[in-house]
Amino acid sequence: MDKPVRIALIPGDGVGPEVMAEALPCLAWAEARGRHLEAVRFPFGADHCLRTGDTLPDSSYCDLRDQFDAILFGAVGDPRLPDGRHAEAILLRLRQGLELTVNFRPCAPFLAGSRTGLDLEVFRENTEGPYCLQGSTEPGRAVDLAIHTEPAVRRLLVAAFRRAETLCRPLTLAHKANVLKHGHGLWLRVFEDLRTEYPGVSARGMHADALLCALVQAPTTFAVIAADNYLGDLISDLCAAFIGGMGVAPSLSWAPHRPYRCSVLAEPVHGSAPDIAGKGLANPVGMMLSTALLFRHLDWEPEARDLEGAVSGALANGAKTRDLGGTLSTVAMGMAIRDRLPS
Ligand code: NAD
Ligand code: IPM
Ligand code: MN
Repeated sequence: MDKPVRIALIPGDGVGPEVMAEALPCLAWAEARGRHLEAVRFPFGADHCLRTGDTLPDSSYCDLRDQFDAILFGAVGDPRLPDGRHAEAILLRLRQGLELTVNFRPCAPFLAGSRTGLDLEVFRENTEGPYCLQGSTEPGRAVDLAIHTEPAVRRLLVAAFRRAETLCRPLTLAHKANVLKHGHGLWLRVFEDLRTEYPGVSARGMHADALLCALVQAPTTFAVIAADNYLGDLISDLCAAFIGGMGVAPSLSWAPHRPYRCSVLAEPVHGSAPDIAGKGLANPVGMMLSTALLFRHLDWEPEARDLEGAVSGALANGAKTRDLGGTLSTVAMGMAIRDRLPS
């Protein structure tokens, strides 16, 4: 028998474990269809940190990096740890340590409603910019350094150009090179290089401020949007609003250059939502669609398509949690989706 795909599960904090619980039966379903996988759960998050003092110990980090193929992640963030140190030590360490440069955040047309014509995807650089977490707070002055390196910028942009080429649709780079001359100047230089390498792709750069206005006014004129870590974070949450809000937006991060065995992490775009945690109100759709993106990345295309189809069918049939104007609990929504999975 082939070797199992080893998937690490990190439910995390707040609604993370609630939405993860609805995605896990989809792994069992894929297994029942003949996919060979092994899932191992890890306790990292605020509770574990408060109980043991550990965030993500080095030995566990190395275990995840070298002994697993993929990570399924819920969310991190807890009001009891307001400085977010455990979120940095867990989530940002995984993104940066595993060099998961490409963060793919699609607005699937079936979520937007096919009549809207909206079909856009955000490619967010996932490891650099101000997320390098270097800075200082001094009396009357504060500094957050933003570091951009050519290899990461190129990896992200190549992924975005390839996607635009495959889809035969336009690519837009969001930047602020008019002000951020150094960092975003580098982005523009690499973008120009790649425009000559991909002459078939209609590619343009736009100042991010003007882009946001155009995106709200005419979202269907955009297809693939590439951005650095910070702008990509903001743009992808705005895009989530087009498809029903934070509860439904999926994401997948990967390392195209595969420096380590573990080279992909699936997580919803949303956070731990402390305002609704523990109440059965969280929408599991973002988490379940992230699981579908992971299936596709593993080349399990039939399972990815069936899971997306089950989500879209359940929504079209009126299954909705409170954020979408419905009354279903997290568990009931998860079941309404899974009931539509073919055996
Ligand atoms: P959030 O995404 O947690 O919540 C924003 C809003 O969206 C809230 O009103 C929340 O109720 C709603 N929401 C989020 N997920 C939902 C779901 N599945 N179903 C229905 N509604 C949902 O963002 P926030 O409030 O800014 O941050 C809360 C905590 O989460 C913070 O600690 C933040 O740092 C962290 N965070 C973590 C991640 C991550 O783990 N990837 C992402 C974003 C925020
Ligand atoms: C996200 C979140 C994270 C980010 C936070 C929790 C560090 O907003 O995954 O989009 O800013 O990347
Ligand atoms: Mn975000």
